[in-house]
Amino acid sequence: MIIFLLLLVGTGAFRLPDDMPVDYSGYKTLRIALESNKLKDLVALMVENEVVSIMDEGLGDEIDILVSGLEYPGLLDSLTSAGASYQILSEDVGADIEEEKQELLRAVPGVFDFNNYYAVKYQHSHIDALVARHPDQAETFSIGQTYEGREMKVIRISNDLANADNKPMIWVDGGIHAREWISSHTVLYIANALLSEIETGLKSQVNAMLDKYQFVILPMSNPDGYEYSRTHNRMWRKTRRPSGCKYGYTRPDGSCYYGQCYGIDPNRNFDADFGKKGVSSNPCSDVYPGKQAFSEKNTQAMRDFLLKHKSNLALYLSFHSYSQLFLKPIGFDINPPKDSAVHDAAGAAAVNAIYQTHGMAYKNIRSVELYPTSGSSADWIYLEGVTNAYTIELRDTGRYGFRLPTSQIIPTGEENIRGFIALVNTL
Ligand code: ARG
Ligand code: ZN
Repeated sequence: MIIFLLLLVGTGAFRLPDDMPVDYSGYKTLRIALESNKLKDLVALMVENEVVSIMDEGLGDEIDILVSGLEYPGLLDSLTSAGASYQILSEDVGADIEEEKQELLRAVPGVFDFNNYYAVKYQHSHIDALVARHPDQAETFSIGQTYEGREMKVIRISNDLANADNKPMIWVDGGIHAREWISSHTVLYIANALLSEIETGLKSQVNAMLDKYQFVILPMSNPDGYEYSRTHNRMWRKTRRPSGCKYGYTRPDGSCYYGQCYGIDPNRNFDADFGKKGVSSNPCSDVYPGKQAFSEKNTQAMRDFLLKHKSNLALYLSFHSYSQLFLKPIGFDINPPKDSAVHDAAGAAAVNAIYQTHGMAYKNIRSVELYPTSGSSADWIYLEGVTNAYTIELRDTGRYGFRLPTSQIIPTGEENIRGFIALVNTL
């Protein structure tokens, strides 16, 4: 009986209902060096069969994976016999997440500071509070709704906002991937710094930027996924719309053989070389791009707003985590694009300013050097003619990964407002 159940778990036929919280007790994260093709194939097979899931694909041939306590001994056997070198990043992901839950409980009701991660509704009410305090410099509006009906709420900031329509626009987004909690909070930190709600010691520089540009800031680009990552599955990455049947195996009556899948990867859903590289056709995969580009309401909302303003867009900047990288176009072509000299200078300025702040090294690379992908937001807007289009992968380099401790929110904000100012000054 037990063996039978294990077999079912192994094939993925037995799936937990989607509304049950996922418990990561005993799960580990490992960094594996994929030094041979044999090893790459082995890990790819384990990913496809859901023995492990990918957290991050690092530079070179490194990959960070998540594995349950049950599968761990078998994984070690396979890795050892394949001669793989690996390193354990977290011994117990469940314990890490438990620690984080305790941190979340420490939030003071009604207070939004950068000592904690906040639910979408508090991020949104924080934006409202900023606008109320700075009516001449800030306004808020929604660029659309998500599948589950949440607002895609932006804050627009400039000096003399009423007359800012013709200033060049700078777009900043975060939260495209649900589990990358630090990204929305860093973007909110930048909004606060622009409005001098945070003492950065950079007021005159910020003021010059606010004279020259209008900033449109979307901290939370995938609110459905983010809420799900808070309440059900800390490692959730995608959106939340039902996306199809596992492996595409649908019964004639429309039900699924192996279970219903949810979500598409929003950063594979943009129309840039759509559906070709770094994607999976399995709707349950973390990198499922959707049936066609812009199939999702949240990416549609971003597309419609950005297209309307593209001729005026001086910079597109998207925050993700983790790995500490400044990623330049293009993600699917190994050849440097025509603007690569501009990109190199922009990235160099940003990573240098970041490094000067707390000594954190962020690498300045083309995104294809990390791993090739199609359908990212930055590549799409770059192909639409916006020369400066970048993605920043925030802290850390793997120990905590997506579960960055709350004590690092402020330092991450401090280094990235400086990186941001340096970047804008290259435009
Ligand atoms: N980690 C992000 C993602 O997987 C960034 C991708 C950047 N593009 C690339 N070609 N690596 O969506
Ligand atoms: Zn991401």
